[in-house]
Amino acid sequence: MMLIKVEQLSYLQVLHDLSMQVEEGDWVTIIGKSGSGKSTLLKLIAGLISPTSGHIYYQGQDITDLDPIKLRQSVSYCYQQPVLFGETVADNLNFPFKIRHQQPQHDQLVASLQSVQLPAEFLTKKITELSGGEKQRVAMIRNLLFHPKVVLLDEVTAGLDEESKQAVHQFLVKAHQNGTTFIQVTHEIDEIANAEQKLVLENGGLHHEELSR
Ligand SMILES: Nc1ncnc2c1ncn2[C@@H]1O[C@H](COP(=O)(O)OP(=O)(O)OP(=O)(O)O)[C@@H](O)[C@H]1O
Ligand SMILES: [Mg+2]
Repeated sequence: MMLIKVEQLSYLQVLHDLSMQVEEGDWVTIIGKSGSGKSTLLKLIAGLISPTSGHIYYQGQDITDLDPIKLRQSVSYCYQQPVLFGETVADNLNFPFKIRHQQPQHDQLVASLQSVQLPAEFLTKKITELSGGEKQRVAMIRNLLFHPKVVLLDEVTAGLDEESKQAVHQFLVKAHQNGTTFIQVTHEIDEIANAEQKLVLENGGLHHEELSR
């Protein structure tokens, strides 16, 4: 089933007539030079910014016609510069439960932290005391706790050490096996080499191969 359809999308001087289609269960990897518009494309698909022209459809519906809360729960953007809120890591991981009027299971939160190589004690850690890579992982598991259908990953492993990178990768592979569809932006050589479907963003459009210049 087609989950995301992007039709003749343009955004300011950044994206020009860009089209793409993402099927349920796909793992699309987008590469491209710094400043080529990768983050811009993900933010447009997440409905965080509006196109200058063109359309984005989620399950056949124009995302501008969808309830923004529903869209956010279905298509989740993991920021390149993650945004945490409240005071502690627990505040962030409790939040998705709170908005659904559910009580989080302590064990589940600990397990989710451990799945990305963060210890249980991190629950009480102040967000101001986290490193960039730690923030990135907390934001990512927060976004994935309730299994959105589509996850947009914006360089989520950038700046992590090899061991943490592997842990995050395993976490994502598991989610993918459980049906999550990914659109991932990365500069990581390993992730690019092992990509299932690779697209290059260049001159405002997507190509299957790197253009020779
Ligand atoms: N709201 C905006 N108005 C004008 N220009 C913008 C806006 N947002 C982004 N840009 C510009 O669009 C271009 C693409 O930015 P974007 O952040 O999407 O790049 P990127 O491919 O994600 O780069 P990186 O690999 O460094 O993260 C950049 O030149 C940026 O300065
Ligand atoms: Mg970017």
